[in-house]
Amino acid sequence: MQQLQPYLEQNKERFLNELLDLLRIPSISADAQYAPDVNRAAQFVAAQLKNAGADKVEVMPTKGYPVVYGEKIIDAKLPTVLVYGHYDVQPADPLDLWNSPPFEPVVKDGNIYARGACDDKGQMYMHVKAFEMMMKNNALPCNVKFMIEGEEEVGSVNLETFAIANKEKIKADVILISDTSMISNDVPSITTGLRGLSYVEVEVTGPNRDLHSGVYGGAVANPINILCDMIASLHDKDRRVTIPGFYDNVDEVSKEERDAMANAPFNLNDYKAHLDINDVLGEKGYSTLERVSIRPTLDVNGIWGGYTGQGAKTVLPSKAYAKISMRLVPNQKSEAIMQLFEAHFKKIAPASVKVKVMPHHGGEAAVTPTDSIAYKAASKAMETTFGKTPIPLRTGGSIPIVTMFEKVLGIKSVLFGFGLDSDAIHSPNEKYGLFNYYKGIETLPYFYQNFAEMSKES
Ligand code: BES
Ligand code: MN
Ligand code: MN
Repeated sequence: MQQLQPYLEQNKERFLNELLDLLRIPSISADAQYAPDVNRAAQFVAAQLKNAGADKVEVMPTKGYPVVYGEKIIDAKLPTVLVYGHYDVQPADPLDLWNSPPFEPVVKDGNIYARGACDDKGQMYMHVKAFEMMMKNNALPCNVKFMIEGEEEVGSVNLETFAIANKEKIKADVILISDTSMISNDVPSITTGLRGLSYVEVEVTGPNRDLHSGVYGGAVANPINILCDMIASLHDKDRRVTIPGFYDNVDEVSKEERDAMANAPFNLNDYKAHLDINDVLGEKGYSTLERVSIRPTLDVNGIWGGYTGQGAKTVLPSKAYAKISMRLVPNQKSEAIMQLFEAHFKKIAPASVKVKVMPHHGGEAAVTPTDSIAYKAASKAMETTFGKTPIPLRTGGSIPIVTMFEKVLGIKSVLFGFGLDSDAIHSPNEKYGLFNYYKGIETLPYFYQNFAEMSKES
């Protein structure tokens, strides 16, 4: 795939400009106000797939946002790679913390700054451009299909139905996904595990209306005080989650894998400096890398209620709310954990308040094999372009469709991400390195070549 290098050099500027055009579309799936933009992003991806040389390009409707499909079948006897990615992005707020507007991408100091630059427009678009390079140079060594969705950031709720209805169409030997990160630009890694997720919203109600905090305070339960007590009780002094049964099905990781994690290059001081914290905090007995990958967690994502406007208003509020997420590890079931949470949360509520628990989306954890042809093909591809063998490493984020695809399609995935944890995905000033964008485009064709060759040998 060395022969593609001149093409990449000649087209670098255009490859970047096309991505910047895609980044200008505010395709925020969580906010209905942006629906026309989300659909516009789907059309953009479809048009670019067609330009790159894909056949049967379609914007396929679902009950939510459409899935963009395209394929190039060169020979039915050859193996098929199914590329998955997403064209939707997270909301951009808080807007005032951005150094430049989130949907007016800027290239500065070797980085592209925009919402979606890394997650996942930049990483997804590398695949479109790598495909174009192989097509225009007659170098595509196997079949490829694209399935780019628009609801990943809101839980991919319609994708299972889509996958079942289109099982034949999206049939493939492996799913290739670039939607994760590497350790650093000098130390490539391949993600081999993702956490699952249970997400709930809770509502605590005290008195039937907001009260004068002097007239009633001290005698009537304040739902915010109570909610804080309840949330605080969800961790013990060792920072373990106190919900009975929470750890029951947790897969303990082998000593070999823990040793390998301990040897992965990770500098705690750099980590703390990068986040401006004096110390880390987490479950006793586990390292920072372990806490964010092989251990389940519980976090409050948002909490509100009462008076938050200017000045002081003496009020004992009627209601308090919180959004709580639990990250899960293999063998924990998101539905069962949701139920454990609900039962426990209701149980610990004092009689002075009423509690409602409303489940949001969930998803299962995933582990991907390192002994598959596809993993080896990815590893060898990175070895060629980075000059180093990538380290297999689990990560803490969630891509629930990985386990869903395995269940309904019987296809395993390779998590071939080129981002960095410092890319600030979901945060203000999200970025993606030009190095990472071009390195991904350069590396992906080697994956195809290795995968086609190694499949032949086996
Ligand atoms: N691309 C991320 C997941 C990710 C990021 C995995 C970095 C590993 C490293 C994905 O877009 C995402 O944000 N997933 C959500 C879950 C989803 C159900 C909303 C998450 O992890 O919060
Ligand atoms: Mn993503
Ligand atoms: Mn995301």
